[in-house]
Parts: sequence; structure tokens; C-alpha cells
Amino acid sequence: MRIDIITLFPELLQSPFEASIVKRAITQQKVGVHFHQLRDYSSNNQNQVDDYPYGGGAGMVVMIEPIDKCIQALKAERDYDAIIYLTPDGERLNQSKANALSLHQNIILLCGHYKGVDQRVREHLITEEISIGDFVLSGGELAAAVLCDSIIRLIPGVLGDESSALSDSFQDGLLAPPIYTRPESYKGWQVPQILTSGNTPKVEAWREEMAYQRTQALRPDLLDDN
Ligand code: ADE
Repeated sequence: MRIDIITLFPELLQSPFEASIVKRAITQQKVGVHFHQLRDYSSNNQNQVDDYPYGGGAGMVVMIEPIDKCIQALKAERDYDAIIYLTPDGERLNQSKANALSLHQNIILLCGHYKGVDQRVREHLITEEISIGDFVLSGGELAAAVLCDSIIRLIPGVLGDESSALSDSFQDGLLAPPIYTRPESYKGWQVPQILTSGNTPKVEAWREEMAYQRTQALRPDLLDDN
């Protein structure tokens, strides 16, 4: 998989790709992540990429021309399955969306800034819009990092144990069951006995039941969706 990220602030996007599972996926060439500085596509002497909104109002708007030039330059190199604009009014990211995106070959992520991008970008240049939640970030970069992490860990072979992504919260529409490790007792706080019983079918049944109970208690809306 290849992910191209168009941004005004690539420095905001460094560390999430330099550690842990995502770094390993890049090192193992399961995914290539490439940053493109939008200012490099400005035709303006000062490399300006934003301007005042037509009709007045507070804040600056990212202009369509540099975004178009950057997207066209990328599209001249390869076909893209999706060109995604990160925006708080996009479709809410969830696990099933991450699963679907992880199957793509090439995607572009466009990070907005200031008041956002010229509406014509949204109407003519991108294929979808994604939000990571009902709150407003200063720009799309952190949202893009979150989206990338959620996708990259799902690429086959990225997680050592293939089953570990399958046991994540949400993967089966339920929250994950509680997990424990040694010691069996800490300050008198015990690990549930079933987990140390060695009875695998019973352990599995317990985990399923706990996943269901936690979901019912914490996120009953997830059960309504099924
Ligand atoms: N840009 C600013 N806020 C955002 C959000 N919540 N999700 C995606 N992109 C954003």
C-alpha cells in the first residue's frame, strides 16, 4: 500500500511514523508513506497557499490551485483508489471504514488548515471526506496520522500475530474483553480464576461474555447497530 499525504505542516506528521508498528510496517515495505509540502505547488512568489474568503469573514482559506497541482502531479504517476480530505464534517471514521481503506493500493490524504479548503476542492478533486470525531483540530495532520495508524495495522502481515487485529475492540462489533498478565495476584487484586484454569474453551466463552457485557455497559449503541 502507498499513502501520499498533502500537508502544509509535514513536521506535525513525523513521529507517528517513526515508532512501533507503523515504523515496522514502513521498514518492511508493507506500506510507503510520502509527504508532499503544499507550498511547493504554489505559483505565488511568496509560496502563498491561502487567501481571504470571498464574501468576507474570519480566517483564511486554502486555495484550490496548489492542491489541484499536487493531486494532478501524483495522479500522473499512478492511479489512486481514494483521495480523502480530513475534515470535522466528513464521514466519521470507524473500524469498518479502516478495514475497507486498508484494502486499497494507493490513497491520497489531504490535510486542511486555517478555515479549510476552497469548496471546489471538495466538489471536484477528492473522492471522500473523513472525520476522526466531533471536535475541531487545528488541521488535518493529526487526523491523518490517526487514520494512517488505524489502516496500516490492518495490512496483512503488519501485526506479527494475524489474529491480534481480529481480537481488537470493534473488529467484531464488540469492545475487547479485559486482559491480564503476571503476577496472578498483586496487592491482593486477583486475575479471574478462569484465565489460569488452562481450559481454553471456557476461557474463550468467558472472553465472549465479557466482551458482550462491557459493550452493553459502555457502548450499548454498538449492539443496536447489529
Ligand atoms: N480537521 C480538523 N478537525 C478534524 C477532525 N475532527 N477530523 C478530521 N479532520 C479534522
